[in-house]
Order: sequence, then C-alpha cells, then structure tokens
Amino acid sequence: MSSPDNGNGKREQWKSRWGLILAMAGNAIGLGNFLRFPVQAASNGGGAFMIPYFVSLALLGIPLMWIEWGIGRYGGTLGHGTAPGMFDAMWKSRGAKYVGILGVFLPLVVLVYYIFICSWTLAFSVFSGLGMYPLPGEGVSALSTQAYLAPYRTYLYDFIGAAGSGRFFSPTPVAYFFFIITLGFGIWILAKGVSAGIEVLNKIAIPALFAIGFILFIRVLTLASPTGTDTAGAEKGLAFLWEPDFSGLTSAKVWLAAAGQVFFTLSLGMGAIMTYASYVKKDEDIALDGLTTAGLNEFAEVIFGSTIAITSAVIFFGVDGARLIADDGAFSLGFISMPAIFSHMRLGQFFGFIWFLLLFFAGITSVVALAQPAVAFFEDEFGWSRRKSVTILGVFFFISAHLPMLVKGSLDELDFWAATLGLVVLSLFEVIIFFWIFGSKKAWEEMTRGAHIKIPRVFYYIMKYVTPAILIVILAAWSYEQLPAVLAKTDLGVWAARIFLALVLLVHVIAVRAAWKKRRRQ
Ligand code: PHE
Repeated sequence: MSSPDNGNGKREQWKSRWGLILAMAGNAIGLGNFLRFPVQAASNGGGAFMIPYFVSLALLGIPLMWIEWGIGRYGGTLGHGTAPGMFDAMWKSRGAKYVGILGVFLPLVVLVYYIFICSWTLAFSVFSGLGMYPLPGEGVSALSTQAYLAPYRTYLYDFIGAAGSGRFFSPTPVAYFFFIITLGFGIWILAKGVSAGIEVLNKIAIPALFAIGFILFIRVLTLASPTGTDTAGAEKGLAFLWEPDFSGLTSAKVWLAAAGQVFFTLSLGMGAIMTYASYVKKDEDIALDGLTTAGLNEFAEVIFGSTIAITSAVIFFGVDGARLIADDGAFSLGFISMPAIFSHMRLGQFFGFIWFLLLFFAGITSVVALAQPAVAFFEDEFGWSRRKSVTILGVFFFISAHLPMLVKGSLDELDFWAATLGLVVLSLFEVIIFFWIFGSKKAWEEMTRGAHIKIPRVFYYIMKYVTPAILIVILAAWSYEQLPAVLAKTDLGVWAARIFLALVLLVHVIAVRAAWKKRRRQ
C-alpha cells in the first residue's frame, strides 16, 4: 500500500472505484441540475439555450473537469487537498498559495446559502408526504397561470418568511428546525471522513436519486394537461427544449448563462472536484473517471432535470406560462410549479414526496462536497484532526447561514461573487497555472497517466489555448455586463454580504500565512 503521507499521518483514500465515481457524481449533481438548470434554460429560450450550453460543455466543462482531476491527484500525492498547496507546488511563486485561497473560500461561501436551500427540500419532502399542500381550488383550470400558482407561491414564501416587504426574512420555526437537521446531518457525514462518510452517503443517495429520477421522468412523459383539451402534452414540452433554435447563438446573455450553468452544475472552478480528486490512488484512470462524472451529471441534468421540471410546466401552463414561471425566480419551477402540478395528479402526494427527496439527495451530496475543501485545508495544512476541523466548520456554518436566512438581498450577492464571478476567475488560474506555468507537457502527462482511454489530442490544444481564451472573454463580458449593476446596489443585505465576504477572505489570508510559516519552521 502506498498511501501518500503528508507528514501528519496517512491521507485518506476512496475505498472503491465505484465509490469514487458516485462521490464525484454526487459532488456535481446538485440543486443546480434540478432547480437552476430548468430556470436558466426556460428563461433563456429553451432550445435557444441548448446549443451554447453544449458548446460550453465541450470547450469548458469537459476540459476543466480533466484539469481539476489532474491538479487534484497531483496535489494529493504531495499531501495537499486544496488549491493553496496545489498551486504552491506547481508554481514557484509566493503568490501562488494566496491565489489558491479561492479553492477554499468559494465553496465555503456557496455553502453558506446552499445548505439553507437544501434544508427546504427536506422539509418539502416531508410536507408532501404528509399531504400538507394547499389543494387546487374549484374550476382552477380556467384560471391564469399566476392565479393557479398563487397558493403554492404563498406556501413557499410563508415557509421562509419572505412574504413581508421589510428588509428581513422571518423563517418559520419549522424552517429553522429543518435547517438544523440538515446541517447536523452534513456535519455527521463529514465527521465520519472521506470513505466512511462521504463515500457511503453517495453510494446510497446517488443510485436512489437515479431511481427516483427515472420514475418521475416516466410520469412526466405520460402527463396530460389539466384541462384535458390539449393532447399534445409531452411532445410540446420536449420540443420547447430540443427543437434547435439558433437565435441564442448571437446573444451574449444566453452564452454567459449557458457557460455559467456548465461551471456550476459540474462543480468546476470551486475547488470541490480538486479536493475529491486528491483522495484518488496514484494511478487511477482519471481520464475515464472525469468523463464519467461529467456524463452522469449531464444525464441527470438534461434528461431528468429538464424533462421533469420544464416539460411538466409546459404541459400544464404552455410555453409562455413556463417561461413566466421561470422568470419568477430561481426556485419557481422546483418549489412552486412542481407542487402545483403534483396536487393535480393521482398519487400526487407520493410524487411530491419523491421529487423533494430527489432534490434532498442531490443537495446533501453537494453540501458535503462544498464543505470538504475547508476540512481538507485544516487537516493537510494545519495538521488538525478531522473532529476538530469539522467542529469548527460546523460552528462557522451555523452562525453564517443566518445571513442569507435573515437578511434580504444577501443571498444573491453571495451567489454573484462566488458562484458567478469567482468560479470563472479560479478556473482561469487553474488552466494558466497547470498548462502554462507547470507546463503543458507535464500537465498532459498528469492527466493521462494510468488512463485506459485516450483523451483525443485535440483537447491538448483546447485546454492550452481555447479554454483560457474563452474564460478571458467571459470574464470581460461579465465585468462589462453585470459588474456595474452589481456594484450599484447598496441595500442592507448587499452590504452585509460584502462585509461578510471581506472578513471571511481576510481570515483565509491569515490562515494561509500561518500555515506556510509553520511549515517553514518545520
Ligand atoms: N454542482 C453542484 C450543483 O449542481 C453545486 C456545487 C458547486 C457543488 C460547486 C460543489 C461545488 O448543485
């Protein structure tokens, strides 16, 4: 057994190849696949979104997936599970470790709000199972989309306390209760460790997720419209997404949305894939595993996620109705239109229960993936025990999750900096450090060592030239298009989020300095 040693004892490793693949799939498959993708696709024109989406997948998603596996495995053999140590090993510059901070900071920030949303899915699963949803009123099929959905929107908004017009949310005690349960469960899994906690969770949750996804997929394809007058049903819903529409190709907004979705859904540019990859064996076939991860994620996203949430909405509310719902916000399709549709179905209670359970499995397996970089940082760079690392993080998340939970506007601000802008910046550093500083020959060797599949050579050139070039264009376009509007915002929630981000970033800088000082002394 040649388990790499980081000087603080042995680093953990995934137990089996299947466990590793399911864990990586669980990392990537998340709320992004089932809540974010449908809303992005529907509000960006359905079919018009899909071409930029697949182009982004080929030129950014797959290449970066391989790059992160390559950097991660390389770092792991040197005892580093996070970007500060990995970048430092590849780039002999004092700044490298500070750039790497993004690989711990970004997932931490995302988790601050992600975990709260994940807790809603557990709550809604229970609510559906217990039949606690409002039932549609008499003659509701004659109503407009908005009126039809109103009770379900109220239900969600009351739950998270968003109904009032003040600056604060007032979540119900029940919402708070589910938040605590979700956080506690995540912490418990993390405390068990990589193979006994994360791997075991994913080995159960991901097959279950696919089974549920399949059931709901079949159910939606056989759905009839509520009025019974429209028999086109599923066909119309599928056509909305799958009839090629080239109009999106010329819209910068659609391209940016598509590329952003590819990053988020594949967990790229965050550090989460690199951290998981740091626990693989030295000669693992990462070329094939990386591709499998991306494949499973895309299956969950474009087959299950889109069909379940979008096709059902089109069947019920028409193309215009579905678009209207999607424009209503990030949670509208998953939390508002799905329950409305279920309550119109036979066995709707059951279908609602498994839909939200699917979301919970998707969410919780990403929650642990978002937290593991910080755990790994403490363990690898500070030599702390897992128990100590996880406890400190638990306290941190418990306190900081109150920001998006209570202060309006803070969630969007955190999301913008970390999950829209930050991940592009980190991705760009990854490519440049790996391919241009560490060296493209060595990088290619790292990614293909132990591989039984041959990564087509064209990807060498894509990774070296095309991927970074596109990232720079995206960064420029985003800064130009979105930054001014974001910076102009000044409400309380926005400022609270900015101060929070600055403080957390400062703590990261101090922590990295301290870790490297300690290392020099040893
Ligand atoms: N990919 C996850 C999703 O689709 C989110 C995520 C991002 C998880 C980054 C880990 C790291 O929801």
